[in-house]
Amino acid sequence: MLIKKEDLPRVSNYEMNLIHQDEVEIVNKLYDALKENKIDEADKLLKEFLENVEMHFSEEEEMMVESGYWARAMHKSEHDTMRGKLKELYEKWQKNKDPQEVIEFLEKEYAPWLTLHISRWDAETAMHIGDTF
Ligand SMILES: [Fe+2]
Ligand SMILES: [Fe+2]
Repeated sequence: MLIKKEDLPRVSNYEMNLIHQDEVEIVNKLYDALKENKIDEADKLLKEFLENVEMHFSEEEEMMVESGYWARAMHKSEHDTMRGKLKELYEKWQKNKDPQEVIEFLEKEYAPWLTLHISRWDAETAMHIGDTF
């Protein structure tokens, strides 16, 4: 397990919390497959994870546009930096199929980034957007 669901910071928007929980479920499955050296499974899960991240980011970006959140460009640029890193990671994976490379990235970059990003950017954005449900 890479990230405990209970350790994820909660924000004041229901939909955003759901998106984060889903992503953590997928990334944990991916992490376990990598740790067990299951290359084919990891390959499938990595694709699933990347699609999920893209959905996560674009949904938040849509919500920010709809609600006219003043700092949406800054929040989006944080997403874009991570998009770039994930693209690079996937290219390396396709070439090397090296689980260790992905494990290291998830541990050292993605996991700390996600926690920090949620508490810094998503939390503030959620307060601006409020709860739509
Ligand atoms: Fe988020
Ligand atoms: Fe975000």
